[in-house]
Amino acid sequence: MKVAIIVGTRPQIIKAGPLIRALSKSGDFEVEVVHTGQHYDYQLTKLMFEELSLPDPATNLNVGSGTHAQQTADAMVGIERFLEKSRPSAVIVPGDTNSALAGGLASTKLRIPFGHVEAGARSYDMSMPEEINRRLLDHCSGLLFAPTENCLGNLVKESVPGRPILTGDVMYDSYLEFQDKADSTNQLDLLNLEEQEYAVLTVHRAENVDRRDRLESILTAVRLAGLPVILPLHPRTRKAMAECGISPESVPNLRVIDPVGYIEMLCLLRHSALAITDSGGVQKDAFWSGVPCVTLRENTEWVETLQAGMNTLVGTDVQKILAAVQLWTAGNERPKPSALTHPFGDGHASERVAEALAQYTSGVPGDKQLQVALAKGPKA
Ligand code: UD1
Repeated sequence: MKVAIIVGTRPQIIKAGPLIRALSKSGDFEVEVVHTGQHYDYQLTKLMFEELSLPDPATNLNVGSGTHAQQTADAMVGIERFLEKSRPSAVIVPGDTNSALAGGLASTKLRIPFGHVEAGARSYDMSMPEEINRRLLDHCSGLLFAPTENCLGNLVKESVPGRPILTGDVMYDSYLEFQDKADSTNQLDLLNLEEQEYAVLTVHRAENVDRRDRLESILTAVRLAGLPVILPLHPRTRKAMAECGISPESVPNLRVIDPVGYIEMLCLLRHSALAITDSGGVQKDAFWSGVPCVTLRENTEWVETLQAGMNTLVGTDVQKILAAVQLWTAGNERPKPSALTHPFGDGHASERVAEALAQYTSGVPGDKQLQVALAKGPKA
């Protein structure tokens, strides 16, 4: 049975890794990767494919950057053309990007069953393009693979027409698989960093980087915090800083580096004192690493990290960022990862996706062991 996986951005490529392996290993599926080309810089795409030993995409649609409508529409047209030719039995769409939305809409309209991986994540903030994408995807997907119980609950509350299934988080599968390899890359020596004596900063969200005042607040807080901060710089942020004349070099304790691969990023996070970020994925990677996180947003879809006391929402207010950073770096003992709860599953989410997909496409109703929560009956 042929299954197409739609990717386009860095986090989707990371999520596709364990899915490709689980689907291929099950023996039931032939996997085709469709890359929309939303991300095209070497560090954001090709590097991930190489690091994670992923098969080359069956096609790259080269949609590139553009307005949301342009990017989504171009990806939809390309995906539709590909799916019409290839006719897979099912499509898998990880994440919440414009490429994900394009994949979900194109599949639904061609009546090819599609499964949404990371279903049910909600920030309840419709000013985020990803929140719009997530909601639309979850309301046209046949199978909804929920990473946490909270996500599953959101889907049930919304009475989505497809079938929600609690699988665990495929990114946690990936984290567990690569954590040892990450440590062996020895980023600390390469970058001359001391164990737990630096913070990792990532910032790329439009609402932060397209606003000069917010970018300045973040950098001011970093400067006042004083500890060494390492910033792998997303191309969007680099451009935004250049356009509004902000120089990260003016912050003496900030070290800007090119975007790093997934495995290098895990190494940097795992040995840091804390993460400062506006990314969804980094909040979870920090949580799994037992590293506290200061989130440069007013809300998060990953409420599990807040409930565990490992994440603080601070927005971009200088004093709030500073207070949270100081709280975590003032010698408080860090919670040990083993003492943390594991709301993101057991590292076998991708296998559950493969199993549920095999059942779904062969019309077999859900298996109790998969913790299937039926919103409505299975669809043929
Ligand atoms: C996208 C996703 C976001 C995800 C992020 C991970 C959407 C709506 N957003 O945001 O959910 O967290 O990817 O990185 O889908 N650019 C380059 N080179 C590239 C890609 C982008 O220079 O390879 C620059 C361009 O100026 C572009 C800008 O970054 O206009 C934004 O890229 P885009 O793909 O639209 O969104 P991201 O901010 O990367």
